[in-house]
Amino acid sequence: MYRIQSEPGFDLWGRRLQEEDRSVLCLTRCAVPWLNPRGARPMWAEANRGREVETGMAATRVALIGYQFMGKVHSHAYRTVSSFFPEIERPEMKVICGRNATQVAAAAQQYGWQEHSTSWQDVIARDDIDLIDISTPGDSHAEIAIAAARAGKAVFCEKPLANTLPEAREMLAAVEKAKVPNMVAFNYRRVPAISFARQLIQEGRLGRIYHFRARYLQDWIMDPEFPLVWRLQADKAGSGPHGDLNAHIIDLSRFLVGEITEVSGMTETFIKERPLPDGKGRGEVTVDDAALFLARFEGGAVGSFEATRFAGGRKNHLTFEINGEKGSLSFDLERLNELKFYDNSEGTTQGFRDILVTEGEHPYIAAWWPPGHIIGYEHTFTHEVRDLLEALQKKQAPTPSFRDGVICQAVLEAVLDSAQKRSWVEVPSPS
Ligand SMILES: NC(=O)c1ccc[n+]([C@@H]2O[C@H](COP(=O)([O-])OP(=O)(O)OC[C@H]3O[C@@H](n4cnc5c(N)ncnc54)[C@H](O)[C@@H]3O)[C@@H](O)[C@H]2O)c1
Repeated sequence: MYRIQSEPGFDLWGRRLQEEDRSVLCLTRCAVPWLNPRGARPMWAEANRGREVETGMAATRVALIGYQFMGKVHSHAYRTVSSFFPEIERPEMKVICGRNATQVAAAAQQYGWQEHSTSWQDVIARDDIDLIDISTPGDSHAEIAIAAARAGKAVFCEKPLANTLPEAREMLAAVEKAKVPNMVAFNYRRVPAISFARQLIQEGRLGRIYHFRARYLQDWIMDPEFPLVWRLQADKAGSGPHGDLNAHIIDLSRFLVGEITEVSGMTETFIKERPLPDGKGRGEVTVDDAALFLARFEGGAVGSFEATRFAGGRKNHLTFEINGEKGSLSFDLERLNELKFYDNSEGTTQGFRDILVTEGEHPYIAAWWPPGHIIGYEHTFTHEVRDLLEALQKKQAPTPSFRDGVICQAVLEAVLDSAQKRSWVEVPSPS
């Protein structure tokens, strides 16, 4: 057990420098006056003073399935989490798994895994693994997660939880039957500005919420000659930007506003055929290129959602605005350190203000850098892994859980149903 103190004479960045007494961990960046120009403003050590930090717990032994985009970013999170969040016992990066032996060996070396494997079945059967991290395309999530749950492992699965609602329900039933910890990887909940937005909403700063308006726009497949990769094939990806991007903003709407009860949606596929990745002919695009829907929330708010890969100039443009009776919030992932807040009561001085969410009191920030020293995309995964490992250490249920993943899947499915029927559809229950 460590107690965090605010005492001068330590590392500028709040890193653990000395442990003269094993019971006291001295962490502060207030020692150097120029780093703390506002004097009394609470910074890392102040914000964390008195917090007790458990250590000496068993390290979580992790196996990661998938070594490309999410594999790389999850590896980074496991590798760095304990350097910044010392209350988390450093996880053991046991084994990384993928289908190509040469590439998975190179990934193990590059990302810092002890071993590599081409069989997720072998990895799940091992006794020395506690947590299975599923960072593969959606067509393999259900099979791997159900096998992992049956083997008694904790399961951390990338989003969307599955390619269909029945699959997602089976995954939920498996983890609940086996009573294993489970989490779905909606990392954007852990953007400090978004966690802070939730705090403001919970404090009542927006009052009753009227509107949730979100867009998640990209442009990476606008070239009609872009190949038919797995993300454009329904049997592998389930859907296009709908499951890929709308899943994120649906989860954020639930995190910030509440449950969605009914939806009215439409989808479109602009380019129906593309070259096959191996260059041998062309194949049919079987997913949406754009998916839009309107929604009603349980609490009376209304919402609009738009996801597309055809918004020229928009690279990873996740934005939302929330309008309430007392104020509004606005966020843009491409400016993720900032949150815009408008307070209706400010009279003639009113206007959206830019809050730079980099103060020690803001969610997660105390672990990183002094105010104004911005963080980025990968940090959201470090926060996610931090919260997951903390829950495992404390034997608590991590969130968002597979149940959250199923509820998101139910909204996704209701939108597709509505688009097909050309009418409003109620969101089905998760079970
Ligand atoms: N949280 C986010 O913001 C975010 C961002 C991107 C992707 N994702 C999700 O992460 C998942 C993976 O996407 P990605 O972009 O990393 O894909 P990717 O194509 O970059 O990597 C997929 C990996 O899975 C491996 N793989 C595929 N099938 C496998 C199998 N049957 N057994 C073992 N390994 C297998 C591949 O070898 C590869 O290493 C998807 O569910 C996707 O929706 C989430």
